[in-house]
This record gives sequence, C-alpha cells and structure tokens, in this order.
Amino acid sequence: MEFSHKPVLLNECMEGLAVREDGVYLDGTLGGGGHSSEILRRLTTGRLIGIDRDGEAIAAASVRLRALQTDGQPRFDALRGNFHDAKELLRGIGVEKIDGALLDLGVSSHQLDEGARGFSYHADAPLDMRMDTSQPLTAAAIVNEWSESDIARVLRDWGEENWAAQIARVICDRRKAAPILTTGQLVDVIDAAIPKKLREKDGSHPARRSFQALRIAVNDELAPLEQALRDIASLLNPGGRLCVIAFHSLEDRVVKNTFRSLCNPCTCPPSFPVCVCGKRATAKPVTKKPITASEAELAGNPRARSATLRIIEAIGSWNQ
Ligand SMILES: C[S@@+](CC[C@H](N)C(=O)[O-])C[C@H]1O[C@@H](n2cnc3c(N)ncnc32)[C@H](O)[C@@H]1O
Repeated sequence: MEFSHKPVLLNECMEGLAVREDGVYLDGTLGGGGHSSEILRRLTTGRLIGIDRDGEAIAAASVRLRALQTDGQPRFDALRGNFHDAKELLRGIGVEKIDGALLDLGVSSHQLDEGARGFSYHADAPLDMRMDTSQPLTAAAIVNEWSESDIARVLRDWGEENWAAQIARVICDRRKAAPILTTGQLVDVIDAAIPKKLREKDGSHPARRSFQALRIAVNDELAPLEQALRDIASLLNPGGRLCVIAFHSLEDRVVKNTFRSLCNPCTCPPSFPVCVCGKRATAKPVTKKPITASEAELAGNPRARSATLRIIEAIGSWNQ
C-alpha cells in the first residue's frame, strides 16, 4: 500500500519553524515525511533528523526524503525510535543542540487507512493499534487481559468516555465466552453497551472515544508527553522554535500547560512584589492562541479539523 498522508498545517508549521538553511532540525514524528520534505527543501548546509517509532513510516519517508538530496549532501537521518527518547537518540548520532523541532502528534492517515494495523473502527482487522509493531502490548491484550476497572479507567481517562464503566463491563462479560480479537468485535461490544437514544448527538461514531483511549494506552502517548516536550525544548539553541500539532483536547492540554510552564515557570504567589523562587523562563510563546486549519485546508483535508498548532521559541540557557 502506498504511504499517503497529507501534512496538516504545513505552511503554518514552516512559518513557525522559520527554517535556517544551515540549521539542525528535528521532526519527531516523521510519518510520511510530508513536513520533513518541506524542511529539507529549505536546507543547504543544514541537517534534518526524523524520528518515528513505526518502521513502515521510516522506510517510506526515507525513500521520499533521500530522493530530495540531489547534491548528495548527508543532510537527512531517519531514526526508528520514540521521540520521548529524543535526547538520547540525537546524542547517539552526535547531535547535542538543534535549531527547531516539529511534533505532529498521533497516528498518520496511512496507519489509520491500513486496516490491518487495527487503528480504525471503520475496517475489521486484528485488534492491534501498535505504532511500533515490535512492542508486545496490543489493544487485544488490554481488552482481553486487563481488569474491568483498569479498562474503565483507560476509557474514562484517555477517551473521556461517559460510558466507560458500562463498556468495560460488557467487554469483560463478552470475553468470558470468547476473546475479543478484532476491531469489528470491539465495535459490536461498544455498540451494545451504549443505549442508542443516549448517544452523542454530534453524529460521531460510538466507538470513537474508546478507540482513541485504547490507542493512547497501547502507545503510551500521554503520560510521557510533558517530559518529552521539556527534553526537546531543552535541546533548542536560543531562537530555535518548537512546533507541536495536537489532535485532541487531552493532548493539547498537555502541550498548552507545558509550554505555559516553560514560558512562565515562576511559582511565587501573585502578591509577591518580586520573584523569589528563582525559576526563569527558558522560552517565549510565538502563538498566543493555537493555530487551526483554514477553510481552504479543511476543504481538501477534513482530518485537519481537530488539529491545533502551538509554538514556542527558546530564549536562553537551559537550567531545568
Ligand atoms: C500524524 S503522523 C506524522 C505525519 C508527518 N508529519 C507527515 O507530514 O507525513 C504521526 C507519526 O508519528 C509517529 N509517532 C507518534 N508518536 C510517536 C512517538 N512517541 N515517537 C515516535 N514516533 C511517533 C507515528 O508512528 C506516525 O507515523
């Protein structure tokens, strides 16, 4: 299957990153290499490092990006791994500092569209949902092996699912007879757990929240995100920008709060006339409000509807 993914908020990200031709840039979510292609086009003597935990993404993006290196300059490295480990991964190839970084969080259209990966409630496939297919934990393991209370917690915390307890109960009931092994079976279970007349009125699929929750749990997407953002921000040279695109409110909240704390870490009570806590800002906001997709972009890419882009700029030495 061809790797297809339309980069979201592409112009806004390029403007936000303000790529310097001789700079060093990190794309922590390489995917199909859409954003990376545009970064690479702007480099002459600079360097781009792309990270993805999905081997298929690394392979597809590497082919696409290497084709852009017509002058043979070694300006692009692809690293298979987790951007939560960006500091160590970059150190491993001798990169200590960068001039900008981009994170386009979540799954790619390719991962969603490739039914066999089990991310989509529209296609019947094995209940997998791993971005990194070498990791042991799958959605099937959570659904069939975790306790009812742990499943309910995942659905509530990571899916903000009002019917979390009921869905967890029906899952545990059904799995007594036979394991739930496919996305189709899970959709049927969720369908049975949510009373038809009490479903969300916005027309969204009844399984949307549960699938989001399981995907976040399988890929451990949220808990390490704050530290990952701090680590990547700490790699930035002064003036370097960090651009992050989030696709749901839980993710965006972590980005917003982490950026706020990097830009204003002071913990002194507002009544203090001067700061005594000694915590100094290491970044400043570039965007006061999150950037969202234009009507023109939405017309060509409905997936951009839930995207929010936030940007900060490093302002000095890092001591946190
Ligand atoms: C939305 S897509 C990125 C698309 C890319 N910007 C493009 O234009 O083609 C997200 C990609 O990030 C990867 N990903 C998500 N979380 C990751 C993480 N913590 N570490 C490394 N890669 C991650 C996914 O495997 C997926 O390929």
